Amino acid sequence: MLESNPIRLTRTVALMDQTFVAREKDRLLRELTEFLAIPSISTLPANAGDCRRAAQWLMNQLRHLGCSVELLEGDGHPVVWGESPKVDGAPTLLIYGHYDVQPVDPLNEWKSAPFEPAIRDGRIYARGAADDKGQVFCLLKAYEAVRRSDGRAPINIRFLLEGEEECGGHVIADLLAREPERAKADAVLICDMSYYDVGWPAVYTALRGLCYAEIHVRTLERDLHSGTYGGVAPNGMETLVRLLARLKRRSGEINIPKLYKSVKRPSKKELRIWKQLPFDEERYLREEITGSAVTGLKDYSIFERTWALPTFEIHGIRGGFVGEGAKTVIPAAAMAKVSLRLVPGLTFEKTAKWLTKTVAKLAPAHAQVEVRILHGGDPVQVDIDDPAFAVLDAAFTEVVGRGTVPIRAGGSIPVVTELARSGSPIILTGIGLPDDCLHSPNEKLDLQQLWEGIQVFGRFFELLAEPAA
Ligand code: BES
Ligand code: MN
Repeated sequence: MLESNPIRLTRTVALMDQTFVAREKDRLLRELTEFLAIPSISTLPANAGDCRRAAQWLMNQLRHLGCSVELLEGDGHPVVWGESPKVDGAPTLLIYGHYDVQPVDPLNEWKSAPFEPAIRDGRIYARGAADDKGQVFCLLKAYEAVRRSDGRAPINIRFLLEGEEECGGHVIADLLAREPERAKADAVLICDMSYYDVGWPAVYTALRGLCYAEIHVRTLERDLHSGTYGGVAPNGMETLVRLLARLKRRSGEINIPKLYKSVKRPSKKELRIWKQLPFDEERYLREEITGSAVTGLKDYSIFERTWALPTFEIHGIRGGFVGEGAKTVIPAAAMAKVSLRLVPGLTFEKTAKWLTKTVAKLAPAHAQVEVRILHGGDPVQVDIDDPAFAVLDAAFTEVVGRGTVPIRAGGSIPVVTELARSGSPIILTGIGLPDDCLHSPNEKLDLQQLWEGIQVFGRFFELLAEPAA
């Protein structure tokens, strides 16, 4: 195993009920299906009521599990707070997760409807199956599994479940700014990630940050006939795509020079561990990327490109005519949604300024160009020296047969910056697999991962309760 901490744990706490999953499978699947069927898409205003229903579904679960619950309101979707019955002298674990999901388009590419969970080949397919409702469900059920006859778990568990992780909302950050003591715990557990590969549980040492923006371009007061004026009138869409093309070179280098100067290189130890990871580039290309080649900075490994370097991606372009048939028009305006992923050394604030400046510099004189920053967050690095990480490693080793390999995430979880401020160790892990199709059509969760995950986290709770050996 790769550099994991070989701590020895003596077992003084009773082993959790090994038959829980086997006995309760049908009910668990019914409950998970019910939760996944709620279309809690946080970024769409039309789904605000569904987000609230998902929050209420969680409140109900927590109540049934003997927790005291609160619905914490703010300027957006509510945060669910739950507290297990107090166990004096036992450690306190804060569990963070999110009940909101990404939009489902392109809808016609789903083999079954995104909010009608369907089981095929031992996997449950639905938006949110892995990111993150299925994983939140896993933790709820691990907690249920370790409750004893008096309704108490071996440790104190607090649940902090938000509904705006996927849309850049502020409710949870405002809450933690107002009430920072909510983030205080012996450890924070975030189960919103995946294994490194089948059979390879992971713990994450960094998350990338984000700077999400819209670039608006206008070149004319109104759309024009492309025959009458074609050849002289500045085309808004063309102006936008030329500008976008200049923001990244063919080599993959982002055209914001200051960006790379600020990047903090990964440590020698990290690079050494990444080099030892099993990696089949051909399979990665075929099964995960689903393209015919990888792009990006050739001098850096794929791990460095996805975990330790900034990115610039275009998410969508709007403007001109895209309806059925043909319309000969010179668009007066166009807009692109873009984002940069940020790595240690970069901040959201600095990057937002640099992007705005660079776009202004690249904009031709004939265009009005505006950058609107929608949301973002800083990258985070976490130390994995706290004994709680060795406990997680032990739980995975016991149940899965392999401990946690330390890697980084390409994705972001904005609230982690705020949670880290409490000084509590932040454990980033998960039961997903790399081919879960997060944010894509046909998102899924392997049920075997869920059943094992319930055992893993149940054991994690029990082992946390033991005095350090
Ligand atoms: N679960 C993901 C984060 C993630 C992705 C971790 C891949 C590890 C690997 C999370 O729900 C997510 O998708 N976050 C968004 C945040 C953004 C909208 C601010 C992301 O990364 O795009
Ligand atoms: Mn997500």
